[in-house]
Amino acid sequence: MDTASAAAPRGQRLEGKPIADAVKAQVAAAVAARQAQGLPRPGLAVILVGDDPASEIYVRNKARACEAVGIASQLHRYDGNTTPAEVLRKLDALNADPAVHGILVQSPLPPQFDADEIIDRIDPQKDVDGFHPYNLGRLAQRRPILRPCTPKGIMTMLSQTGRPLRGQHAVIVGASNHVGRPMGLELLLAGCTVTSTHKFTRDLATQVGRADIVVAAAGRPGLVAGAWIKEGALVIDVGINRLPSGKVVGDVEFEAALPRASYITPVPGGVGLMTVASLLENTLLAAEQLSPAA
Ligand code: GUN
Repeated sequence: MDTASAAAPRGQRLEGKPIADAVKAQVAAAVAARQAQGLPRPGLAVILVGDDPASEIYVRNKARACEAVGIASQLHRYDGNTTPAEVLRKLDALNADPAVHGILVQSPLPPQFDADEIIDRIDPQKDVDGFHPYNLGRLAQRRPILRPCTPKGIMTMLSQTGRPLRGQHAVIVGASNHVGRPMGLELLLAGCTVTSTHKFTRDLATQVGRADIVVAAAGRPGLVAGAWIKEGALVIDVGINRLPSGKVVGDVEFEAALPRASYITPVPGGVGLMTVASLLENTLLAAEQLSPAA
């Protein structure tokens, strides 16, 4: 066992709300300062196609969060039969609109859409999800600008623990474009030794058992057994899984992992709140770059 993590306190819940609230307060202050200088309010345009119930909730939460910090948000709704050409035309118009600094197309999209074609059409300077290949390439080259929101929010949470990241072994469970892959790039940038695990990984238990930091982002309830967690590890649970009972749980067996972990994020109430906070930061950053102070 490594002595640094063995000495760390155990069983602390790393809650998202106080950290997200602090980020939101910073963004609100920066937006107010811009307005006092006569600069335009940051503007976020959200495109929602179809009627996925979870997306409805996410989009509503994003609009409320924007309103709370002074960001002007607009929602463009399309029914599930909309053609990709129609959404591409809207993206061209939003790319050209000076009042819009950030553009986000809520996923999932209906089956007639090629999500890559849609993401590629967003002006990278307005890509507040950080999903455009330009922005992911910048992150891969250690010069990030607009960074994917969930990994960015996790980095903010990790910094709040005060634990140094350099030299730590981080194991990421799940290799999605939105979370797992950019998470690996963020942790690499922070000086971690990164292991990415995915559905072809053999012996996940052994990989997770070596981790100083575990980021579980597979979208499978209880995939990461509590008994796998190394004593003193820091556990970040990105999963949001609704069980048949209606209960929402993460990818980690929370109760079993809690006494072993130094810190562990709860679900709900952990990482989810940080994603929206990072989106607000990105929208402010996009506005600062597109409409800078004179
Ligand atoms: N669907 C679920 N989470 C997200 C997100 O962070 N961004 C977008 N665009 N769609 C999502």
